[in-house]
Amino acid sequence: MSASILKSVAARRTVYALKPEFPANFKLADLQATVQAIIKDTPSAFNSQGNRAVILTGETHKSVWDSVVNSIDSPDGKKRPASVRDEAVSSIIFFTDDKVTETLQEQFPAFASAFPSFADHSSGAAQITTWAAITESGLGGHLQHYNGYVKAALGDKIPQNWTVQAQLCVGVPATPAGEKTYIENPVKIFD
Ligand SMILES: Cc1cc2nc3c(=O)[nH]c(=O)nc-3n(C[C@H](O)[C@H](O)[C@H](O)COP(=O)(O)O)c2cc1C
Repeated sequence: MSASILKSVAARRTVYALKPEFPANFKLADLQATVQAIIKDTPSAFNSQGNRAVILTGETHKSVWDSVVNSIDSPDGKKRPASVRDEAVSSIIFFTDDKVTETLQEQFPAFASAFPSFADHSSGAAQITTWAAITESGLGGHLQHYNGYVKAALGDKIPQNWTVQAQLCVGVPATPAGEKTYIENPVKIFD
C-alpha cells in the first residue's frame, strides 16, 4: 500500500510538452470522475468542504486560454498560456469557496485568521492528488497560476465568491519530464 502511494508521488512530475488528447481508453468522463472523487475525499478544516473544481476542454478551454494570452502584453509572457491553449487537452481549475471560509470565521472566531490559509492548504492537497492521479492514467500536466485572468475569462460561468487557486493543464506527454535535482534534506527522528 505504502509502496504504491510512494510510486504515485514520485511519478507526478511537471510535464510541459503535451499533446491535446486523452490516452487510449481514458475519456473526459474518467477525468471528471477522478476529479470528483478527489474533491470529495480531500480533507478540509472542520470538514468544511470548500474545494470546488471545473474541467475545461474543447472550445471553452481554447477560448479561456486565448483570453489569458490576450490579457498579457509581453510576447514572452504569452508563451506559456499559448502552449496550454494549443497543446493541453484540458485544464482542471481549482477554486475555494470564500463563503465557506467566511462561515468558518463566523463560527470559530478564535481561528478566524487561520481559515484562509487552511482553505489554501486543502486546495493544494486536492491539486497535487489530482496531478498524481492523472499521471497514473497516462496523462501528464503542469500547474499554472493565471488566477485573475482565468477568473475574468470565466465570467459569470462561476459564482463570484469562488477564488481561483490554480490550473492543472493536462494532455498526453509529448516528451518526458526533465531532470530534477534534489537538495540534501533529511527527515530527523527526535526520540
Ligand atoms: C504550489 C506550487 C506552485 C507552482 N506554480 C507553478 C507555476 O505557476 N508555473 C509553473 O510552470 N510551475 C509551477 N509549479 C511547478 C513547480 O515548478 C514544480 O513542481 C517543481 O519545479 C518540481 O518539479 P516537478 O513538478 O517535476 O516535481 C508549482 C508547483 C507547486 C507545488
